[in-house]
Amino acid sequence: MSGDPVVEELLDVTVTVNGVPRHARVPARRLLSDFLRHDLGLTGTHVGCEHGVCGACTVLLDGRPARSCLVFAVTAQAHAVTTVEGLGTREAMGPVQRAFAECHGLQCGFCTPGFLTTVTAYLEEHPHPTQDEAREAISGNLCRCTGYQNIVRSVLRAAELREAAEADATAGDS
Ligand code: FES
Ligand code: FES
Repeated sequence: MSGDPVVEELLDVTVTVNGVPRHARVPARRLLSDFLRHDLGLTGTHVGCEHGVCGACTVLLDGRPARSCLVFAVTAQAHAVTTVEGLGTREAMGPVQRAFAECHGLQCGFCTPGFLTTVTAYLEEHPHPTQDEAREAISGNLCRCTGYQNIVRSVLRAAELREAAEADATAGDS
């Protein structure tokens, strides 16, 4: 029996994150959530349950919401990931971020990045949700502060802001 320590093989992983190719050498078991937070320093993605239940770690994988705690970083190789950092900046917030700020859709804010990414993807496909549809859209994300009323308001307000931005863009084109 050899006393040699087991050396874990490292793999080169390159993922396009928020439009920029990012690379790290990581073990095959590295989760996408840890890859983003620890290897790339993008700590906006939060980790709650690590079991795919709470939605805090939601990012967009090729535009669709994905629980980054259930995805290995190697499987995101050559795919596009959008994290909360890619939705806008403090100076130039995206419509969903603005809506959450306006409508007090956050309390402690721990769940907020997951809500923002989830709602961004939802509104792309359902730009005019009803209140019930907005409630349904966020049903896979848990807020420990139970701030759901304001989060539902935020979803509806984000839809308004998106619509206004599109109308402005159309007016600018004509
Ligand atoms: S941390 Fe991924 S779903 Fe909770
Ligand atoms: S705002 Fe606190 S967990 Fe959602």
